[in-house]
Amino acid sequence: MLLDSSELIKAADKLKSGDVVAIPTETVYGLAASIDSDDGLKKIFSTKERPFFDPLIVHVASFEQAKLVTREFPPLADFLARWFWPGPLTLVLPKAANVNPVITSGLDTVAVRFPAHPIAQEIIKLTGTPLAAPSANKFGRTSPSTAEHVRQEFGDELIIIDGGACQVGLESTVASVSASEIRILRPGDITKEDLESALERWSHPTLVTVTQATNSEQASESPGHLKHHYMPTIPLVIVSDLPTPKQLEAISKDLAVTLPQNAKELDLGEDAAQAARRLYSEMRSLSESGADLIYVVRSETRNGGLWAAVWDRLTRASSWTPEDRSRL
Ligand code: TXA
Ligand code: MG
Repeated sequence: MLLDSSELIKAADKLKSGDVVAIPTETVYGLAASIDSDDGLKKIFSTKERPFFDPLIVHVASFEQAKLVTREFPPLADFLARWFWPGPLTLVLPKAANVNPVITSGLDTVAVRFPAHPIAQEIIKLTGTPLAAPSANKFGRTSPSTAEHVRQEFGDELIIIDGGACQVGLESTVASVSASEIRILRPGDITKEDLESALERWSHPTLVTVTQATNSEQASESPGHLKHHYMPTIPLVIVSDLPTPKQLEAISKDLAVTLPQNAKELDLGEDAAQAARRLYSEMRSLSESGADLIYVVRSETRNGGLWAAVWDRLTRASSWTPEDRSRL
């Protein structure tokens, strides 16, 4: 999508002066602030109603910028960055001393990502500093994959750069990297299989393993990747078959909601990349369609690769319990 460069210059000026701007990336839209602006960073948390324990990803537009925010960039991280950047892989590495602790929630590590979207890269360059950016949604809700989703979430006051619909549609893969392990803290478009296949070219003598943190490990190792996340505004359940009226009754009991009168299926099809791209849009449009329950049919054929990320988000989106009622 072609944008008037004056719009990007205006956005960069806002960022330099300590404001926040919603920007497109290839994964989802981000709510960005300059990493050098204390005011901007705090505004991210207040706008999103995000707790300070949830650290932010630093977005860079060059390898040099990535190295400036990290204390160490081990050979394995360098290898992965050269292989997958720019792209939807976020690397968790030891943080440089000057990175604002508001970004890292006081952790000793920083999450760094070099987005592939040309508009994201251009805004970072025009601002002159890396940009901290979480997904541009209220805390706990589904991420926005279009500019319109961001507008629905935050209204017209927020400056939103419209870069079209996001190509990936799901948040980046977050992985911590040590000398001999790549640990996936949040699955995403760069899959375990992609990482393993890249490693076939890793010529270093150290043997490297790719591990996937379990749900409970993710909660401690990646403080923001919570069980209750990505929730639509109506309950979502995962079922093994099209639900019968009896099963709907049981679901309504479990969730302590009135018997669904208009349960609708979220049908993601068989293609994982398409499912990822459509997931959040479909969740939003079903929530707005007058449905009172969303169900997704789990199927054995939809496994492995990018499906891991799709099911990760769906499982979190379906984690709603009666106690969470006030959130909806
Ligand atoms: O695709 C994406 O990653 C999008 C776009 C805008 O770039 N951003 C995004 O940010 O999804 P956010 O804030 O919604 O998710 C960041 C995730 C959280 O789960 C957080 O816990 C994790 O990254 N994270 C950030 N810093 C970390 C760190 N130092 N150690 C472990 N996990 C970290
Ligand atoms: Mg998020």
